[in-house]
Amino acid sequence: MQAILLVGGFGTRLRPLTLTTPKQMLPVLHRPMLEHAVSGLARHGVDRVVLALGYQDDAFRAAYPDGRCAGVELCCVVEPEPLDTAGAIRFAFGASGMDASGGTFLVANGDVITDLDTDEMLRVHRSAGAEATIHLIEVEDPSRYGVVVTDPDGRVSAFLEKPQPPAPSNWINAGTYLMEPSVIDRIGPGRRVSVEREVFPAMVTDGALWALRRNTYWVDAGTPQTYLRVQLDLLDGRRGPAVAGVSADASVDPEAVIERSVVMAGAVVGAGSVVRGSAVHSGAVIEAGATVLDSVVGSGATVGRGARVTDGTLVGERFEVAPGSALSGARVPQGV
Ligand code: GDD
Ligand code: MG
Repeated sequence: MQAILLVGGFGTRLRPLTLTTPKQMLPVLHRPMLEHAVSGLARHGVDRVVLALGYQDDAFRAAYPDGRCAGVELCCVVEPEPLDTAGAIRFAFGASGMDASGGTFLVANGDVITDLDTDEMLRVHRSAGAEATIHLIEVEDPSRYGVVVTDPDGRVSAFLEKPQPPAPSNWINAGTYLMEPSVIDRIGPGRRVSVEREVFPAMVTDGALWALRRNTYWVDAGTPQTYLRVQLDLLDGRRGPAVAGVSADASVDPEAVIERSVVMAGAVVGAGSVVRGSAVHSGAVIEAGATVLDSVVGSGATVGRGARVTDGTLVGERFEVAPGSALSGARVPQGV
């Protein structure tokens, strides 16, 4: 099975972290987000992943120079300009040498981390005779997602991307799709086309779109809150055995307090500092007496002595937070 992974977005909700690193190359625990997505696909028989690249494509190629990731062959294709989700699927399909003879293929949003069983999804897709099947997950607040209504047999009767509340359903598009090659013919060439706003609604009209409801482990790691949550879930053992958050290659003063946090290789945490519910990227420095709560400190950044960084603050790569200062829910450098 081949998969197209959509990884060409600008990651605006994670700025400033994504100004220097594309979203799917940001670390989740100690590996790039991309590797979590690719290994999830590899567990279910995907042996070739086409990366649909755009923004900062070089960062991906530099990280996987031998064209392999999590035991899977990677094929990198770069859009000449952002073509949106469906435009990217069409472009990646053609540019990577896929064709109709390859049969059913997978597509996934590159910021989705899930334990979905795509083998089961394939069985449902085949028995329904679907042209495309999408994974649905149930959420409390569907407003920032694609909202999906289905018939009792699983056929999709409505697909509404980020609708105004009240949404007609709490089941949302979880960003993993199985597609027949004929879907490609539905996508106009060489222009921006959204799979969510254009292609899926047209397929609903034709009765060709099906869905699998599965409340498996699932996070779209594309916001500051969810980017942290997907890492804390791993620390808390919510996806299997709990894993250690502090790298053996980090330098942590014995008088620092670190709770439920990721501290990456080369980071330095000074005496009397407190790091809780946060991610401290490689080479970042938390100086003595500083506090970091529910926040992300980008690689090589510094939180100065006694400073407080709290409530979902994102500190950009190599930024220096002044000693004694306080940042709450901030993004620094500002204006990004
Ligand atoms: N190659 C390429 N080109 N990739 C793109 C482009 C593009 O022009 N635009 C976006 N992407 C990639 C992003 O990098 C991301 O991995 C994926 O497509 C989805 O884009 P997001 O920006 O993360 O979308 P979203 O989270 O607001 O909404 C999507 O995901 C939700 C589930 O997480 C939609 O598919 C919703 O319907 C869905 O509910
Ligand atoms: Mg997303």
